Amino acid sequence: MNNVCIVGAGYVGLVSGACFAELGNMVTCIDVDTARVDSLRLGQVPFYEPGLQELMSRNVAAGRLSFSSDYADGVRNADYIFLCVPTPPSSNGAADTSILRSAIQTLAPILRRPYPVIVNKSTAPVGTTSSLQKQLVASDPSLARVDVVSNPEFLREGSAVSDFMSPDRVVVGTADGSAAGKMRDLYEPVEAPVLVTDTRTAEMIKYASNAFLATKISFINEMADICEHIGADVSLVAEGMGMDRRIGKSFLRPGVGYGGSCFPKDVLALAHTAAVHGSHPRLLRAVMDVNSHQFKRVLYKLRDELGELDGTVIAVWGIAYKPDTDDVREAPAIEIMQLLEQEGARVRAYDPVAMPKAAPRLPTVAMCESAYDAALHADAVLLLTEWNEFKSIDLERVAAGMNTPILIDGRNVFDPVRAREAGLTYAGVGRGAVEPRRLRVTTTRRVAV
Ligand code: UGA
Repeated sequence: MNNVCIVGAGYVGLVSGACFAELGNMVTCIDVDTARVDSLRLGQVPFYEPGLQELMSRNVAAGRLSFSSDYADGVRNADYIFLCVPTPPSSNGAADTSILRSAIQTLAPILRRPYPVIVNKSTAPVGTTSSLQKQLVASDPSLARVDVVSNPEFLREGSAVSDFMSPDRVVVGTADGSAAGKMRDLYEPVEAPVLVTDTRTAEMIKYASNAFLATKISFINEMADICEHIGADVSLVAEGMGMDRRIGKSFLRPGVGYGGSCFPKDVLALAHTAAVHGSHPRLLRAVMDVNSHQFKRVLYKLRDELGELDGTVIAVWGIAYKPDTDDVREAPAIEIMQLLEQEGARVRAYDPVAMPKAAPRLPTVAMCESAYDAALHADAVLLLTEWNEFKSIDLERVAAGMNTPILIDGRNVFDPVRAREAGLTYAGVGRGAVEPRRLRVTTTRRVAV
């Protein structure tokens, strides 16, 4: 059993803390936000993440997980101190590491022998881990013996608990053999390959991974646009591409563009780092360019169907930047709704969990009780987040209640033929003029990728 201190009770910190506790460690999560700590102590999780509430309650009850706003409570017996604090984008696109640096400043005077390993899990520019180590030594030369390692996170919102417990890999950046050994020990129960590198390489693996996934998304979104122009079906193009093991089938779902607190920020930050170091990140810039245009495509489709949007009523299904989260940071739906309102449309929205977080940013949007309620008397429905509950919606009922039955499916959730049979004018992403069901070749043997 190890003592683990987590600095930062945000998304990554709470998921990591609860999971380390579940693995049998004693975990203290520290946050400077006392209101947040108070509500965590009452068992309230500040965001929606499937499975996390139960995991936290179980480990709090077992005495393995606690919360404090006092660093000393967590640091006192810690074997490991994880830094899980925000690194928001600054005005020039670079990730702002000031919160990380202030955490180190607070930690330095209270570290005691035997020193814990300090682990940076926050996504921070290449070189940050080594600069944190230098900052420690500058504040007290005797802290030269403290190991600061990099351990990037690869958690997806919505499936973060299972991503933590069954990761594809654990990456540890350190030049110190004993720190690497301690990290291997801590992660031993999760049974994943551990890749040990120098700190800069570990930091770069995180950025390169997110940038590559973002590239796949922008790539398939560009293919979708081409498919629309030439009359091919991008869903089948992606399926056919994904059957090639070298390509793989994941992250080839076209849509309204990637959002959230990671991809937009991380691709921008990597492009900034590259430029600062004299590299020319042409591909990253193209990825961002495609993405910033992608969400506008649903508006073009809407105008194709309705002409002027002034005076129309538009229903929006899904606000979160992806399903299974209430996170609306950089959510394409927010920008789309703001543009709709600027063009004079009245917007009626529904999301299974994200409405409370979205409402303050969309004060004039009507938040509705259900998808049916949002669509009632609307001139068009825009589907922007592929929540499961939308997949089983009764499209006949939706069409019957609408003013003009138009469905713009921004995530290709519905079968176009089925939607048209239900009486809807349907437009998906990259589905051209073809009717997929008729073109689909049925095979009994699926190729595993
Ligand atoms: C992403 C990475 O997947 C995680 O590995 C990483 O740890 C995390 O960022 C982070 O840096 O903290 P996340 O932002 O939770 O995780 O969500 P993803 O599932 O990766 O989706 C990101 C965006 O891409 C969403 O807007 C989603 O709708 C979009 N997306 C994803 C597509 O448009 N098409 C796809 O095929 C896949």
